[in-house]
Amino acid sequence: MPRLTVVVPTFQEAANLPQLVHRVHDVLSRESIDYEMIVVDDNSPDETRQICQELAEKFPLRLIVRTAERGLSSAVVAGMNSATGELLVCMDADLSHPPEAIPELVAALENPQTDFVIGSRYVRGGSTEDGWGLLRWLNSKSATLLARPLTAVRDPMAGFFGLRSSAFQSAENLNPIGYKIGLELLVKCNCQCVKEIPIRFANRLYGDSKLSIREQLCYLRHLRRLYRFRFGVKAKAVEYGLVGLSGACADLCVLWGLMQVLPFNGARPLAICSAVVWNFWLNRDFTFEDGRSKQVHLQFFRFVVACLSGATVNWLISMGLQTNVPAFERNPLLAAVVGISAGAGMNFAMCLRFVFRPIANARSSVDSSAIRTHGSITHPRATVLDEPVTHLDQRIG
Ligand code: GDD
Ligand code: MN
Repeated sequence: MPRLTVVVPTFQEAANLPQLVHRVHDVLSRESIDYEMIVVDDNSPDETRQICQELAEKFPLRLIVRTAERGLSSAVVAGMNSATGELLVCMDADLSHPPEAIPELVAALENPQTDFVIGSRYVRGGSTEDGWGLLRWLNSKSATLLARPLTAVRDPMAGFFGLRSSAFQSAENLNPIGYKIGLELLVKCNCQCVKEIPIRFANRLYGDSKLSIREQLCYLRHLRRLYRFRFGVKAKAVEYGLVGLSGACADLCVLWGLMQVLPFNGARPLAICSAVVWNFWLNRDFTFEDGRSKQVHLQFFRFVVACLSGATVNWLISMGLQTNVPAFERNPLLAAVVGISAGAGMNFAMCLRFVFRPIANARSSVDSSAIRTHGSITHPRATVLDEPVTHLDQRIG
């Protein structure tokens, strides 16, 4: 068994692979680190297959070609699932990540207290090569900021990271969409002690980045799943609050529109009703999507009951405080704030337990595509090339 498995996801990286494999091999043999490299390619329409075949004659390289699925993150999971090393390091193929830093990542993982290492651009001594436009920099920084509630590491967006195979196996269910598999593992493997090793992130050697707008939208969905995973019902409460705020805006917009043709008395109830419908749809499709029932009318009726209950609690508490508690008698607005909070809490609790109670075996979009890491099977739909690659599968050197 090699000590280390280096997992490299690739899509159209044939031009970069020879230099990557040579540099990884040079540094790891110099440091006497026994390793294997697994390239997980998504059936690239280039010479990746032939080049890997040639390289595998000289280096301990295996190629997994997936034909039924595409995606950086799931490719990395497939590679890690078939890794035999005790330590796992993931890196890009385009030489943005310096292979010469791998021994430092490995050394950090030798410390039993460290359970995750990152080749980091944003710690002292780390950097990115010139040529990052303001947009890419801003993008990276705001993505990092959004991940802040999940982890305090400086570079959670990094694609150059390492962890123990045992930690990877312990992940409950991995749900890798988009690009941020490092962040996914950091959260799902419950890694507490993370060490960041400074690296210089180079511009890619050949070819183009595959990071598209679509991947960035995926990142937002991914973040939401991770918030749900880490914070459970609290994350739902925040989403519920955001929906509520949007409902208030919808209420005001509709009111303004209707007042162009109706008096206030007529426009107000209609605007309130439209806000209730707005909140219902958003909560049903977004906050409580795992509790979406096919009986929309019944669910809407229950939602209206929840809203009326919230309003009643709001009214009772604010009136009660304002009439009975001297401090609130002088500050009726404060009494209203307490009433609104209690009403919103009541409304949320009823949505959770009564209106949108999760339906058993519902295929929630939040984790319907979860992938277990356990077992020796690689990825459910991964194809490990065995015909021309039987010899690729053998470790050489
Ligand atoms: N198998 C597979 N399938 N590999 C893929 C896919 C895919 O769909 N898309 C991209 N890759 C591979 C690329 O071939 C490359 O080896 C690596 O994943 C990173 O892709 P790039 O296209 O080079 O991404 P980038 O340079 O924009 O993003 C890098 O920087 C980010 C931080 O700024 C990557 O390192 C990210 O992992 C990192 O988060
Ligand atoms: Mn790149």
